[in-house]
Amino acid sequence: MCGIVAYVGPKDAAPILLEGMQRLEYRGYDSAGIVVSNKGLKVRKCKGRVADLAKVVPARFKGGLGIGHTRWATHGVPSDENAHPHLSADQRIAVVHNGIIENAGELRAKLIADGVEFASETDTEVLAHMIAHAADENDTLEEAVRKTLKSVVGTYGIAVIDAERPGEVVVARNGSPIVLGIGEKEMFAASDVAALVRYTRQVVHLEDGELAVLKADGFHTFASDARETAKEPLTVDWDAGHYDTGGYEHYLLKEISEQPETITRTMSGRLDERFHVAHLGGLNMDARETRGFRRVKIIGCGSAYYSGQIGAQLIEELARIPSDAEPASEFRYRNPVVDPDTLYVAISQSGETYDTLAAVQELKRKGGRVIGIVNAVGSAIAREVDGGIYLHAGPEVSVASTKAFSSTAVAFALLALHLGRVRDLSPADGRRIVEGLRRLPGQIEEILTQSDKIAELAQKYATHASMMFVGRVRGYPVAREGAQKLKEISYVHAEAYPASELKHGPLALIGPDMPTVAIVPDDELLDKNLTTLGEIRARGGRVLMVGHREPEAKLADDVIVIPKNEIELDPILLTIPLQLLAYHAAVALDRDVDKPRNLAKSVTVE
Ligand code: G6P
Repeated sequence: MCGIVAYVGPKDAAPILLEGMQRLEYRGYDSAGIVVSNKGLKVRKCKGRVADLAKVVPARFKGGLGIGHTRWATHGVPSDENAHPHLSADQRIAVVHNGIIENAGELRAKLIADGVEFASETDTEVLAHMIAHAADENDTLEEAVRKTLKSVVGTYGIAVIDAERPGEVVVARNGSPIVLGIGEKEMFAASDVAALVRYTRQVVHLEDGELAVLKADGFHTFASDARETAKEPLTVDWDAGHYDTGGYEHYLLKEISEQPETITRTMSGRLDERFHVAHLGGLNMDARETRGFRRVKIIGCGSAYYSGQIGAQLIEELARIPSDAEPASEFRYRNPVVDPDTLYVAISQSGETYDTLAAVQELKRKGGRVIGIVNAVGSAIAREVDGGIYLHAGPEVSVASTKAFSSTAVAFALLALHLGRVRDLSPADGRRIVEGLRRLPGQIEEILTQSDKIAELAQKYATHASMMFVGRVRGYPVAREGAQKLKEISYVHAEAYPASELKHGPLALIGPDMPTVAIVPDDELLDKNLTTLGEIRARGGRVLMVGHREPEAKLADDVIVIPKNEIELDPILLTIPLQLLAYHAAVALDRDVDKPRNLAKSVTVE
């Protein structure tokens, strides 16, 4: 969602804030603003991108203390007035905020009754006025912030500065991430390590309910009851280079192209050739416990959920444990039955998705055993779960998930192998899967060489307003992810259906204007899938088939042929051409590939 950056130290804050905000733009980007403290607060903010803001920040915008924000509108339309920071009426306090203040209406009414005039429609502005009142009555800014937050209901990551205390920033977290960065005689804070890695690799993650005071020479953290908390700094292993486009035109293409290396990293050190098993030390589970689970329930949002569907299929096939995936956002609201014999798996690239985090917390509260499949080390979900598998895919910047998706699917193959080999998966089948996994990176390379051909197909198909994606069993989550990729970055309407369900409704839509992307792997369902292609073509529908060989009869208008792996692992490869198809369609339609409209990379609000 929105991005926060804060700085206190000997340098000028403004360039550091702007640079950090640029790194966070992928989280939210309809407006941006900064404030620095230098004999009073100096503010610049506007609707638009960080680059637009940089144009209105004067060269002499001096001050070694400042906070900045990139906004993704929730309360109030994107506008100059609604852009953060928000200031108190006396211009003493400035606040930037991620999250949603749920009782903002009530707090606002009270402030208005007290004679406060509001300058924006945002929920955040109430914080600025309330902290300013509290600052008059308390000795320290931290006390003023802490007391104010006691009357606030909702989620927040905030950074606050006070014109009268030009050497400190106060930050607080409840549901929206805040990370502190420790520098040499300077301190940083941000909503994401991406904004910090240029300056420091030493970070401290705040927990929900925690606050921190940052000064140039250090920081201290405390809980909402004012007790000091002890924090160990963590070293992040991502550096600024991971956040560059690396010569590619878009982050998305870079991230698609990185997949041979990123899935190799996910597997690295985890495959055992002797027993044909996967070593997953981070699960914190012994063999007896691992054998004890009778069900697996997977939760995640968006592409994480679709990768979970691939995971459920892998676990059922390899470990023969009943498994299913559900959107975390649904799961948490339906008062789920939490069962001691079920292994719960939460998936999240960012480790910060609010609905997934809340579902994990609900599960833990009810005594469920939860593991995480997470990319961002030290993120909220990673810290909340009982154990897990880190993806090691490196930072994913483009809003649409690609390399985290394939790494998650690979992590599930490892988990399925692990669960299977303590049960009934034979050594021979274990070997088959281990060898199959080892072939994946080279096979992805091969698929990537077809990028130009897929670009031509994308140009041809993207002229349609709507497309159908179909797949059966293993192919169905692939179809769902393919449709998701296409709609989110190219804005071409796309729907995914199990191929078997086509004749129960959506076939009515099929005709020359509605082409179908069909996932047709060479597996036991090949003939059934080919029959479906016949049905589509009989209605005048065009077919773009993704599979392992050209069909004998002319059942498809176009075919993308990809290398064959083991049937259980094929879905991982089948998603790759669909990523390229969506990418090239978005480029052909001149879309903002890395930052699609209305979407954010990490959805840290409900
Ligand atoms: C957002 C992003 C998606 C992502 C989903 C889950 O909706 O736009 O690309 O799949 O969040 O994110 P997570 O970080 O939890 O995997």
